Amino acid sequence: MAIPKNIILIIVFVATLFSIALATPGTATFYTNYVPSACYGSTPQGSIIAAASDFLWDDGKICGKIFNVTCTGPTNPVPHPCTGKSMVVKIVDHCPGCGGTLDLSKEVFSTIANPIAGVIKIDYVQI
Ligand SMILES: *[C@@H]1O[C@H](CO)[C@@H](O)[C@H](O)[C@H]1NC(C)=O
Repeated sequence: MAIPKNIILIIVFVATLFSIALATPGTATFYTNYVPSACYGSTPQGSIIAAASDFLWDDGKICGKIFNVTCTGPTNPVPHPCTGKSMVVKIVDHCPGCGGTLDLSKEVFSTIANPIAGVIKIDYVQI
């Protein structure tokens, strides 16, 4: 017996919902002094990087993990900060006391958003 078409549609729909659910909402700020870093000491890791807030740091277990970060909207009166681009970043540092979720390099932040905004809403997913 053939599988009814609407069952396949439901499976595709649920799979899509699941992949959306894997992205976690948060907020992002940016920083500019990349070396030394909490994960790699004085060894530079380039500029497509981010620092984890206390919430994500987990004793450094997050070091080296790769996240896809997407700007989703403003947190302040700067309208439409998002450029529509996403960036894939490596976690190289810890940002103790950071209010947000991820502290992005200025290069990453200004690729996905207007740096004038300072703080943005993001979705992030480990890849
Ligand atoms: C990152 O996320 C965006 C938005 O969901 C998506 O369009 C893009 O393909 C993703 N990139 C990677 C490398 O996963």
